[in-house]
Amino acid sequence: MSSLSGNAKIAGVIGWPVAHSLSPRLHGYWLQTLGIDGAYVPLPVAPENISDALRALPKLGFAGANVTVPHKEAALAAVDEVSEIANRIGAVNTLICKSDGTLYGDNTDAFGFIENLRAGAPSWRPDSGRALVLGAGGAARAVITALIDAGVTEISLSNRTLARADDVAQYIGGNVAVVPWEARDTAAEGVTLLVNTTTLGMTGKAPLEMDIRALADDAVVTDIVYAPLQTPLLASAHARGLTTVDGLGMLLHQARPGFEAWFGVRPEVTADLRRHVLESLG
Ligand code: ATR
Repeated sequence: MSSLSGNAKIAGVIGWPVAHSLSPRLHGYWLQTLGIDGAYVPLPVAPENISDALRALPKLGFAGANVTVPHKEAALAAVDEVSEIANRIGAVNTLICKSDGTLYGDNTDAFGFIENLRAGAPSWRPDSGRALVLGAGGAARAVITALIDAGVTEISLSNRTLARADDVAQYIGGNVAVVPWEARDTAAEGVTLLVNTTTLGMTGKAPLEMDIRALADDAVVTDIVYAPLQTPLLASAHARGLTTVDGLGMLLHQARPGFEAWFGVRPEVTADLRRHVLESLG
């Protein structure tokens, strides 16, 4: 939107730091292409100010905001009302300012993950076999919650720090089997969905060391890392002829419910949007 009216709806992304966030570019694309009278701005908020900043959003007339690292857990504690899924994931990534001045906290990461998986691997079925999830941060909690809700009944979880994986399995409360990090290659035997939620493979980080030979022949391999788009893990899976799904789509899809809540239009993820966001990744 080149110019805003006095009625413009305002949303943004709260993080610390926030300069690296792709969300302003992503929401900005939708606002512009859909011709919406609205803006989506970066909101750098230091941890000591998060509670004040969140309380101020409705008072400033914001429609809502996204919340990113490191504030997702603090946002869960600060909002007036939490969605069921945000509670189960233990984090809030989407805030909606309600007309009565209260703050509603939701989490759209599970939605983003499963939408991206379904779009990138249409042949994948929740009942096709066991899933193996690597990592035990907030992203892992969202991915596992999404898989359970999609109907996956067998999930293995492996993380360098075993205790964190145990904590995630206990927090989720579903049927999640924790596997020691050293046993991840063996745990890949017959797996039909492998998900990397660790930061390994990201530009500047070590690659994920994972032997994918034991995966099922119809396995899907997906990474939540999107810089680079083709991580070493996805490259090796592709070389084995497996279906791969990159992490950019999760970021794009998780943004859709928030945009709809704030600006009143459900946006779509298109090839042109991907190109637009990728341009800024260099
Ligand atoms: P988020 O909450 O966004 O998922 P995080 O809590 O920083 O992010 O989690 C990063 C994940 O990458 C963790 O699972 C972490 O493993 P630990 O729990 O053992 O820290 C994993 N990770 C990061 N560097 C790693 C490395 N060199 N080897 C193995 N796992 C690593």
